[in-house]
Amino acid sequence: MNKLMKFSIAVVLLAAAVAVYQPHVFTVKYMHDVAAKYPAFVSFFRWLHGVKGSSSKPDPANLKDGSPTTDPTRVFTKEELAKYKGEDGSDIYIALMGRVFDVTRGRDFYGPGGGYAFFSGVDGSRAFVTGDFKPEGLIDDISGLGSQDYIGLRDWLDFYMKDYAYIGKLEGKFFNANGEPTEYYFQVQEWLKGASNFKEEEDLFKEKFPMCNVDYKPEEGSRVWCSNKSGGVKRDWVGVPRSLYSADSKNIRCACVQEADLNDSLLKEYPDCPKDASSCMLPK
Ligand SMILES: *[C@@H]1O[C@H](CO)[C@@H](O)[C@H](O)[C@H]1NC(C)=O
Ligand SMILES: *[C@@H]1O[C@H](CO)[C@@H](O)[C@H](O)[C@H]1NC(C)=O
Repeated sequence: MNKLMKFSIAVVLLAAAVAVYQPHVFTVKYMHDVAAKYPAFVSFFRWLHGVKGSSSKPDPANLKDGSPTTDPTRVFTKEELAKYKGEDGSDIYIALMGRVFDVTRGRDFYGPGGGYAFFSGVDGSRAFVTGDFKPEGLIDDISGLGSQDYIGLRDWLDFYMKDYAYIGKLEGKFFNANGEPTEYYFQVQEWLKGASNFKEEEDLFKEKFPMCNVDYKPEEGSRVWCSNKSGGVKRDWVGVPRSLYSADSKNIRCACVQEADLNDSLLKEYPDCPKDASSCMLPK
């Protein structure tokens, strides 16, 4: 379990507690803020959303999968899309990364007065991960975001592809007037792929060099030590503590290292600690 997941679970528990004691705090906007910042939260949000937002009848339009063979042909202009904000009972559409989704059955959320109304009739992709729901934040430009944000956007897209009907494309940044992907679209695919690769590498790295346990006693100072689940990485080895330098040497942390990886140039032994000790006192 990584830190993000742990944190997300903590947020869920906290949110649940808040919901019990102060239901008015538990607004959709708040939920969205949290979900947008912590993508692992999306599934919880989806669950909440599903409970409140969906009717018990399955919507046949939602049963199709998101494969390219079901790619819709309708192309919206921004002006057209802007008509679908649910005013006077009209349908409600939102766009995410140029794809238009029918979210009418989530009227409580996306309709006038709903906590998500700002997403209706526009492509506010960027706000999904920045949490900036002001008009200047609700834009389709998703350049220059961090890996975690691109992973978040990908999760949101999966969410809408699964839970709502994908009905068309929006002419603009991601698709042209014929509904064909633009150069920007392909650029974004690269960013999304890069973010996934980055996350995978990061996860592998965390498994290779799990964090150490740390104890602190005022009279003795800090002790770092390894166990077969330190750093939240359950494993069949314990390892020995080493200082692990980031590639740019700016960050140092303690890592538990297996015999076979001890030669890694990012590692340094702790002074005054035997090479094979599974616990080291840190210099004061
Ligand atoms: C981890 O260590 C504990 C004892 O400290 C042991 O009972 C357990 O089997 C170990 N787990 C693995 C996966 O080696
Ligand atoms: C680490 O490097 C030394 C020499 O550089 C080599 O003798 C040793 O076998 C290496 N150990 C491992 C575990 O690769």
